Amino acid sequence: MPRPLSNVAIIGMGPVGLATGLAFALEGHDVVGLDTDTKRVESIRRGQPPFYEPALKEILRDGLESGSLRATTHVGKAVEQADFIFVCVGTPARPDGYMDDSFIRRAATDIVNALPEGRRPITVIKSTVLPGTTEGVIRPILNASGRALSLAVNPEFLREGRALEDSRYPDRLILGVEDEAAAKRLRQFYAHVRCPVLETDLRTAEAIKYGTNAFLATKVAYANEMANLCQVFRVDSDRVLEGVALDARIDPKFLVPGVGFGGSCFPKDLKALVAAAKVEGKPSVLFEAVLRQNDAQYRRAIELLREELGELRGKRIALLGLAFKGGTDDVRESRAIPIAKDLLAEGAEVVGYDPVAMEGFHQLVPDVRLAKSVRAALAEADACILQADWKEFEDLEGRDFVLTMRTPIVVDGRRILTPARMIGVTYRRIG
Ligand code: UDX
Repeated sequence: MPRPLSNVAIIGMGPVGLATGLAFALEGHDVVGLDTDTKRVESIRRGQPPFYEPALKEILRDGLESGSLRATTHVGKAVEQADFIFVCVGTPARPDGYMDDSFIRRAATDIVNALPEGRRPITVIKSTVLPGTTEGVIRPILNASGRALSLAVNPEFLREGRALEDSRYPDRLILGVEDEAAAKRLRQFYAHVRCPVLETDLRTAEAIKYGTNAFLATKVAYANEMANLCQVFRVDSDRVLEGVALDARIDPKFLVPGVGFGGSCFPKDLKALVAAAKVEGKPSVLFEAVLRQNDAQYRRAIELLREELGELRGKRIALLGLAFKGGTDDVRESRAIPIAKDLLAEGAEVVGYDPVAMEGFHQLVPDVRLAKSVRAALAEADACILQADWKEFEDLEGRDFVLTMRTPIVVDGRRILTPARMIGVTYRRIG
C-alpha cells in the first residue's frame, strides 16, 4: 500500500526548519515553509539558502523547481492545507540564561489565528523547549481557540554542516505524544525512516533533547579538562583518550579536545538547564561546572601563544576558522570571538580567515582584519591559532606556514593537523 503523503507546514525557516522541510520534501511531502523575516523568505524563493550548509543549494533549487517546497511570510498560506505543522522557531537564551519562549509563543498564536475552521493538523514542536513548555505555554495558546488541537514533541538532533543528512537519516526518532491517534499519524509520516523510535509523553521528549546536548557538551568539557591535565603530566592526550575510549562503555565520539564548544545549541541549552534548575531551587553543580570549564578553555590557546611569543602586544596573529566549527557559517558562540577579543585587548593585531563565515564574524568583532585566503592570513604573521576544523585546514603542512609566516608558530586549537607534517614549525596543540 503506498504511504500517504502529507501537506506539511514548517514554522521558522532557520537551519533546522529549512533542512527539515527539505528532508520532508525529498520524501515526497508537500511542504510550505513560513518565516516572518521577509529577506530570508525572498532568499529561499530565489534558491539562495540564507546560510551555508553543504549541498543545500542544489537540493533547495530542486525542491523549488518541483514545487515540493515553497516559502511564504503569510502564516495563513502555510497552515491552510496542513496535516502537520512543525514548529522550528528558535528558543534563544535570555540575558539571565533562561529560555526565551517569545518566538514559540508567537508561532502558537499565529497558528491558531490562521488555522481554518475544521482543520485538525497535529502541531509538532521541533524547537528545543524546556520540559513542560508544550503543555504549559503552547497548549493554553492553542486551546484559547476553543478547538482541541493535537500536540506532539519531536526534537531535532541535526548537526550544522550535516543538517540535511542528519534530518534524512536520524539516529533515532523521539515522538512525544498524548494520544494513540497522533502517535499513529506520526508513525505513518515517518514510516520511511529506518531507526529506533521511542514514544514518550510530551515532557519526556522535551527533556531527552536537553539530556542529549548536556551529555555531549559534558563529554567535550571532560575531554578538554583531561587534555589540560595531560599537558600538566606531559603525556599525549590523543593516546590517553584513545586508550580511554577502548573501554567498551566509552564511545570515542565527542572526545576531541580543543578550544571548547560553541554553536547555537550546546551553550544555550546548558544555560537554559542551569537557569531552570536554579529557578526550581535545585542548582546543577555539574552543568554549571561544564559551562565554566568551557568559558575558560579558549584561554589555553592564548597561553600557548604566550609561552612561545612572550608579550603579545604588537604581534600579528592569524586566526584560522571563525565559525564555531568547520562546515558552517554560523558564528554563534564561536570560540573565535573570545580568542580574537582577548588578543585585541592585549594589543595584538588579528588577521582572520574562514571559508564562509567572515561576514557574520565581522559584524561581531569588526576590529579583526579579514584575509581572502589561508595564505594571505598567514602572511607575515608571528603566530597562528587554528580555531575551526575545516577540511581545507587539515591538509596544511609545515611549508604552508614556514614560507609565509614571520615566525612559524602554530597553535592547533582543534587537533586536526598532522604533527609529522609540521616540519620546521613550532607546533603546539591543546592536550
Ligand atoms: C549540536 C548537536 O550535536 C546536535 O545534535 C544538536 O541538534 C545541536 O547541537 P552542532 O551545534 O551543529 O550540533 O555542533 P556539534 O558538531 O555537536 O559541535 C558542537 C561544538 O562542540 C563545536 O564547537 C565543536 O567544535 C565542539 N566539539 C565537538 C569539540 O570541541 N569536540 C568534539 O569532540 C566534538
